[in-house]
Formats: sequence, C-alpha cells, structure tokens
Amino acid sequence: MAATPASGRLSAHEIHDEPFYRPVGDEIDIFAAAYASRLPVMLKGPTGCGKTRFVEHMAWRLKRPLITVAAHEDLTAADLAGRFLLAPEGTVWHDGPLTMAVREGAICYLDEIVEARQDTTVVIHPLTDARRALPLEKKGELVQAHPDFQLTISYNPGYQSAVKDLKESTKQRFVAIEFDYPEAGIEAEIVAREAGVSVDLAGTLVDVGLRSRNLRGHGLAEGASTRMLIHAAVLARGGASLEAAVRSAILLPITDERDVRDALGAAIAAGLPAAARPR
Ligand SMILES: Nc1ncnc2c1ncn2[C@@H]1O[C@H](COP(=O)(O)OP(=O)(O)OP(=O)(O)O)[C@@H](O)[C@H]1O
Ligand SMILES: [Mg+2]
Repeated sequence: MAATPASGRLSAHEIHDEPFYRPVGDEIDIFAAAYASRLPVMLKGPTGCGKTRFVEHMAWRLKRPLITVAAHEDLTAADLAGRFLLAPEGTVWHDGPLTMAVREGAICYLDEIVEARQDTTVVIHPLTDARRALPLEKKGELVQAHPDFQLTISYNPGYQSAVKDLKESTKQRFVAIEFDYPEAGIEAEIVAREAGVSVDLAGTLVDVGLRSRNLRGHGLAEGASTRMLIHAAVLARGGASLEAAVRSAILLPITDERDVRDALGAAIAAGLPAAARPR
C-alpha cells in the first residue's frame, strides 16, 4: 500500500524534518510492520520515555501526516468525530481531528487514551477492526477509512486503577509496543543530544534518574523520566549548578512530600560528584 501525498487540510500535520529518535530495540520494525497492514498500535510505557517522539519519528519515516489528540476526562466522542456548529448560513458540520485523519489518511495519535471515558473510547472500535469505518451518527454518514489511515494510542500502565482502565474489547484491538527508560548508556546519549551537554554530564544525570527510579513505590509514583533529566541538563547548560538544576528539574516537580523529597535528595546527593553536593 503506497502512501499518497497529504491533501490540503493535512499539510500542516506533515513532518518534514526528521525528529531525532534513538531506537532502543526493534520498535521501529514492529511499528513499520504494523503500519504496512494498518494495524492499530498501542505504545505502553511510563511518562517521558519517548512515546510521543517515537510516533513523530515514525510518521516522518512513513511519510504520513500526524494528528495528535490528547485525551482527557471531558473528551467527548464529538470532540473526536466532529459536530454541527452554528454559522451564518445555518448549521455546518465540522470534522473532528479523528474524522479528518480517517478521511484523509493520517496517523492519528490518541495520547493517554485511558484518560477518556469509555463511551468516548468506543468510537474507535469500528475503526480498529475489519470494518475500518467511522460512523458519524449525528451526520448520518459512515466514513470509510482512507487506505493510509492508522490509529496509534498511548497508555501508561503505571497509572491505571480499576476505574480507569481500558475495556478488554478496546485493549485487544491493538498491537502493543513496550517502552521504558533505556539503559544508562543510551539514555545518556539521548540526554546529551537533546540538551546539548557533554555525555559526561548526561551520564551523571542518568545516574540521578536511576537513583530516583529505585525509589519508585517507596513514596514516589514514578522515578525521574528521561524528559526530566533533559530539563536538568538544559538548566545546567544554561549556567545553573548541577545541584540547583537537579533540585528545580527533578526534586521539586516530582513530589510535594517533604520527607520523600529529602530521601530522594539524599540518595541523589550520594551519587553526585563531590563539588555538586549540597552543603
Ligand atoms: N529514544 C529516544 N530518542 C530520542 N529522544 C528521546 C527518546 N526517549 C526520550 N526522548 C526525549 O525525551 C523527551 C520526552 O519523551 P516523550 O515526550 O516522547 O515522552 P512520552 O513517553 O510521550 O511521555 P508522556 O507519556 O508523558 O507523554 C522527548 O522530548 C525527547 O527529548
Ligand atoms: Mg507523550
């Protein structure tokens, strides 16, 4: 199935420059194989580990426009599919982002899908099975998916509770790719490249990240993400001391609980070069 060029409405969603993505395993091959048959894909993994960057990279690689929708509690089926809006000439139908992707052949990325209510999530069901169609009930139209359309969702299994989880019938429609923070050498490479710092400094910050991840479950819901380590590196590059950078980019945002922060601070300080330790 050859990809066709994006039409007018989608040109703003085309990705022209290669988004930097450092592969960690076989995720590029798996996604490409899934896309070749337009199988829906679920990216599973903790916050800030590269899911969004990966899908941007894949859209660039596959030469498909990318339409991203951040799911949230109040997201309705109409927010995805579209609605009639009042205009001077009467009510006019406006395609939602999902419908636009379906009609014109984009990759639609539904970020944090589990945040949406289940009655919203079910609109993707007919799109993610052999029907590949999106019923627009209010408009009385059944939109057959463009041959290039594909749906990708992200899902952070760490946050799930019994009330907030995907329905079995939703989960089982997707091919899943697991993401996690990469091993130290690769993560340091990513931090160095993204923040424009030395691999040495990046390595020190990755060590901070590993120490915080060891406290997962002991007061911390999640350890510091790759994203946080990049933020710390950016502050250090901007002139902040390493200790101040770690405090502002990691310690303060990650928890509001003083004792957890103190424990994390101590664990981190033990691993910092002597000159950077808080006195
Ligand atoms: N493998 C990677 N290659 C390149 N950059 C990466 C990689 N992993 C993480 N990053 C960097 O980490 C940052 C955070 O990653 P990203 O935004 O993709 O996380 P995410 O998994 O989508 O998180 P969330 O679940 O919070 O949305 C990216 O902006 C990028 O700078
Ligand atoms: Mg993301």
